[in-house]
Amino acid sequence: MLDTSAPFSTLIRTATEQQHNEAEHSTFMRDLLTGQLGVEAFYRYTSQLWFVYAALEKHSETLASDPVAGPFVKPELARLAALEADLAHLGGENWRDELTALPATAAYAARIEEVATEWPAGYVVHHYTRYLGDLSGGQVIRGTAEKLWNLPKKGDGVRFYVFDEISNPAAFKRDYREALDQLPLEGPEVDRVLDEARLAFTMNTNLFGELGAECSPASPRI
Ligand code: HEM
Repeated sequence: MLDTSAPFSTLIRTATEQQHNEAEHSTFMRDLLTGQLGVEAFYRYTSQLWFVYAALEKHSETLASDPVAGPFVKPELARLAALEADLAHLGGENWRDELTALPATAAYAARIEEVATEWPAGYVVHHYTRYLGDLSGGQVIRGTAEKLWNLPKKGDGVRFYVFDEISNPAAFKRDYREALDQLPLEGPEVDRVLDEARLAFTMNTNLFGELGAECSPASPRI
């Protein structure tokens, strides 16, 4: 049972702990980060993130002045330009022609767009799920990708994971959690928001599931 008197940043982390674990230990992530998949799988994953961040950042200007979502929308978090540099490096100059969203990606991006225009607190949940994750576990992914596929350290291919304008990620995350604690959520909206957070994690796990079905490790040689 969740202790609903706890600060909201604790509630959202606790409510999604199990799903975080599932996403982190999904077959696709495991195969990717243990070197069982090639750089093409990393490219395909990065291309799916393009759709997610295009949706997250499409309404940034409007959301920046929203009383609920505004405190979270910060230019130093914006990832789309970095993703585009990575995709150009990983996929070559025609990367845009190769962009196709998996069904799980399309559903995820559509949900983000829906909350971005209709429900600011719901948008904050999706914002939290991605950006706070990128500032945390994302750093593990970057280090592994650089080594596995010989990508330039903090350079093209992994720029998505590099937050040049955030000099102290721990302090940034602390402030972010304080902003979460100040969200004006009342009564049933707390439950609704926590459900949305679980959905956000499930949508990431679904995406890994489809990527896993598409990119499996080469069969072992006999
Ligand atoms: C290989 C995959 C992953 C690894 C190794 C990983 C690892 C971590 C670690 C170590 C933290 C704690 C950092 C801290 O307390 O400062 C964290 C936090 C977080 N991760 Fe992940 N993670 C992974 C995948 C994901 C995915 C797929 C998502 C969702 C899209 C995600 C979302 C988050 C969020 C939102 C937090 C912040 C939790 C909080 O303190 O409120 N992570 N991750």
